[in-house]
Amino acid sequence: MNWDDRPHEDAAALAPERLVGASADGEEQAVEAALRPKDLGEFIGQEKVREQLDLVLRAARARGATADHVLLSGAPGLGKTTLSMIIAAEMGAPIRITSGPAIQHAGDLAAILSSLQEGEVLFLDEIHRMSRPAEEMLYMAMEDFRVDVVVGKGPGATAIPLELPPFTLVGATTRAGLLPPPLRDRFGFTAHMEFYAPEELERVVHRSALLLDVEIDADGAAEIAGRSRGTPRIANRLLRRVRDYAQVKADGVITRDVASAALKVYEVDSRGLDRLDRGVLEALLRLFGGGPVGLSTLAVAVGEERETVEEVAEPFLVREGLLARTPRGRVATPAAWAHLGLTPPNAAAPGAARSGQGGQGDLFGA
Ligand SMILES: Nc1ncnc2c1ncn2[C@@H]1O[C@H](COP(=O)(O)OP(=O)(O)OP(=O)(O)O)[C@@H](O)[C@H]1O
Ligand SMILES: [Mg+2]
Repeated sequence: MNWDDRPHEDAAALAPERLVGASADGEEQAVEAALRPKDLGEFIGQEKVREQLDLVLRAARARGATADHVLLSGAPGLGKTTLSMIIAAEMGAPIRITSGPAIQHAGDLAAILSSLQEGEVLFLDEIHRMSRPAEEMLYMAMEDFRVDVVVGKGPGATAIPLELPPFTLVGATTRAGLLPPPLRDRFGFTAHMEFYAPEELERVVHRSALLLDVEIDADGAAEIAGRSRGTPRIANRLLRRVRDYAQVKADGVITRDVASAALKVYEVDSRGLDRLDRGVLEALLRLFGGGPVGLSTLAVAVGEERETVEEVAEPFLVREGLLARTPRGRVATPAAWAHLGLTPPNAAAPGAARSGQGGQGDLFGA
């Protein structure tokens, strides 16, 4: 694979403004800052990662040394940025935040690296999107705490070595598979962040409700957690929308009924599927008898771009076990039929319609 041909498009660009989208825009990031856990103890879930990271940081502190470089890999909204800030806080170190796309030239990186203080945490978000020359400079900086600054051009160019203070690089990526192995290997510790269990998301919702000063009961939190696609960012976002509804339409308290009614308005169903997801699933079931059908045909039927179906809707449907990608095309699973309240064709009684039996059911659970 050519590392310079990495895809830059992501799901967020294809479908902005999605309530159940996992990415955050600038405005949302400001809201999120207030909800970020500040230390490892406050960070919910990810038991393995927390335990491992706790050891790495404790040992470094005990040695009076700078912590090893850490790579955080995981889907959007699972807490990578949050953890990077926690790492700095736990080490009592300042943090510098930048991202792969912001570093266009090796010189940009050299400027950042040479201005780091001893022990500082450098957070490099979307590290898989750094330019190749910057990446090569980073290898040396990570390993030897040194960079070669090239002065001049052509045969007369000279490399001036520059010593760097020890620092901790925290890299974050949603696509660890796209990192060149030499870069991946230079991290002392890699944390693989998983999607959260419903009970963990319930705790996230309770914690955020407390910070936002919203009253919520256990069932209300469970209802929101169950529709949050395993992602704290989505849980927090749904909570904010449900809070609006509770203030306007109810007495401000979030119960199960209030949460379901609110999320019905926002078209987020009991499993966290939104309009787009359900549109894809419905087309697959009602028009193509559950498949197999080719991606392009399915996209035309839904009235969306191929990429939108493939990169925005399908990953979650596959993860939920509702849709399978097979060599012959997209196929619905029995769970998909059950979720939409439809009967699969071969299970139907002779003479019964192929689909559309049993109606839509109430997916919103309101
Ligand atoms: N373990 C957690 N406990 C409580 N809240 C969390 C946890 N993880 C994430 N959050 C909340 O979810 C939101 C998103 O987290 P964060 O910004 O760290 O995700 P990210 O992995 O950096 O996403 P991206 O890939 O888009 O950069 C934050 O507001 C944060 O408060
Ligand atoms: Mg982030």
